Amino acid sequence: MAQLPAFANEPVLELRRASVRAQLTDGLGRLDRELPLSVPVMIGDDAHRGTELDSTDPGAPERIVATAALAGGEQVDAAVTTARAGFRSWSAVDAGERAAALARAAEWMRERRLELAALEVRECAKPWPEADADVCEAIDFLEYYARAAVELARGRPLIQLPGERNELRYVPRGVVAVISPWNFPLAIPCGMSAAALATGNAVVLKPAEQSPGCALRLVQALRAGGVPPAAISLVPGDGDTGAALVRHPGVHTLAFTGSLPVGLEIVRAAAEITPGQDHLKRVVAELGGKNCVIVDADADLDEAVPGIVSSAFVYAGQKCSAAARVLAHERIADQLIERIAGAVGVLVVGQAGDLGTQVPPVIERAAQERVDRYASMASEQGRIVARVERVPERGWFCPPTVAADLPAGSPVLREEIFGPLLTIDRIRDVEQGCEIVDGLPYALTGGLFARDPTTVRYVRDRSPVGNLYVNRGITGAMVGRQPFGGNRLSGTGTKAGGPDYLLQFVEPRATTENTMRHGLVA
Ligand SMILES: NC(=O)c1ccc[n+]([C@@H]2O[C@H](COP(=O)([O-])OP(=O)(O)OC[C@H]3O[C@@H](n4cnc5c(N)ncnc54)[C@H](O)[C@@H]3O)[C@@H](O)[C@H]2O)c1
Repeated sequence: MAQLPAFANEPVLELRRASVRAQLTDGLGRLDRELPLSVPVMIGDDAHRGTELDSTDPGAPERIVATAALAGGEQVDAAVTTARAGFRSWSAVDAGERAAALARAAEWMRERRLELAALEVRECAKPWPEADADVCEAIDFLEYYARAAVELARGRPLIQLPGERNELRYVPRGVVAVISPWNFPLAIPCGMSAAALATGNAVVLKPAEQSPGCALRLVQALRAGGVPPAAISLVPGDGDTGAALVRHPGVHTLAFTGSLPVGLEIVRAAAEITPGQDHLKRVVAELGGKNCVIVDADADLDEAVPGIVSSAFVYAGQKCSAAARVLAHERIADQLIERIAGAVGVLVVGQAGDLGTQVPPVIERAAQERVDRYASMASEQGRIVARVERVPERGWFCPPTVAADLPAGSPVLREEIFGPLLTIDRIRDVEQGCEIVDGLPYALTGGLFARDPTTVRYVRDRSPVGNLYVNRGITGAMVGRQPFGGNRLSGTGTKAGGPDYLLQFVEPRATTENTMRHGLVA
């Protein structure tokens, strides 16, 4: 097969152009005429219907975006059995051929990028720039892991002595259960599935109950690219479907992205050996965060204010990497609070499909209630310094809110809220900021605004976070440029979109051959 060209990130759309905007609106119109999508349980070549689970538009909850069949225990079992057979044939395919299939899946997505972005707008209320970036990231994962898997298939060099041949190869582990969240509804399930498939595993995908429509498109892309149906099955469903998949003895690797409580449950369940299981399950877990941005006294506030505000409020704070806490040096804290409050006051809160919207609704009613609860706690325990009250009535909107001067023990300062609520604390100096960050159980992303290179090095060395961003926003990791993933309770420390990620999906095997007394066989 032909060699793939060097990897390059997929360029995002130029949304300022009127012609591009018109295309997006057309794409949304075409999608709306297709809704609701019907998402079956897809096991090999078979499609099954069953009890139904709807995904709805967070901005217009009466609009059904997709009606998905809910996979029960029997279907999960059938999907894993099919995946075991799919694994045998897919793992025997040459790594270059597998890479070519993923590259064709990327092409399928490229050709449909407007429709895919439109689906994210409707199913998950992603504003256009975010939806477009998510489609690009999905394409990037396919292209990046395709190339990395070809490289990995070459093995690694070992020390060779005369009369001995040593070889290190990486082989796929077997069946990978991919369990994904809704907040990057194409890119995250695509990244985990692409890594598993590129290295020769078979996948059973359990997408979030809020975004089965996007998962359907992913499976269609992979199959259109040439991944055999037995190697990629789709089991839509809720937490019970996910739990059945986790416990299944035929699953070898669990690739999970989601919240800490569910991640811990998966880690516990994976440690149990169930009847019929003859291997240890491996868990790849990418979990939540409580991401802090330290702002030193010498920081350029013209840079810090937009960086912080966009990191905290774009997509209504529903990114695992979103800024949740600002730790502001006491010398500039009042000025920073005033400027952030001003910038938050003019945020555009609106429907995801309206070009220009910065803060869309949150994903569902339960999320709205959770954010409201934390916002009430923040106003009781601290001081609300900004709150955008004018939000649309229809949809799960939460007013963007900034709170300051909360007591150190407040749950608002420690727990993941996952919504448009930002807090600001005053710190004596950067060292105290680092101590606060170090005292948190999560360690996903972090930020620093400072001019002094010594301060930058100090924070880099002291910070436990998986991704530290200096003098810029803390979201928007790019495949191949910012390998992404957290430490501590934020995950198992794998870095999606980085050179080591594929190692989670393979086993190293070493072969040593004594060649001393064996000449060439003619
Ligand atoms: N670290 C990262 O890279 C990253 C990226 C995106 C999101 N996240 C985190 O994801 C969370 C938001 O996503 P969410 O609300 O979809 O998370 P979630 O944990 O509620 O759900 C994630 C997935 O797990 C499934 N699930 C639920 N209970 C289960 C169980 N008992 N066993 C197996 N599967 C089960 C869900 O159906 C869904 O598919 C946030 O905490 C966010 O920080 C982390």
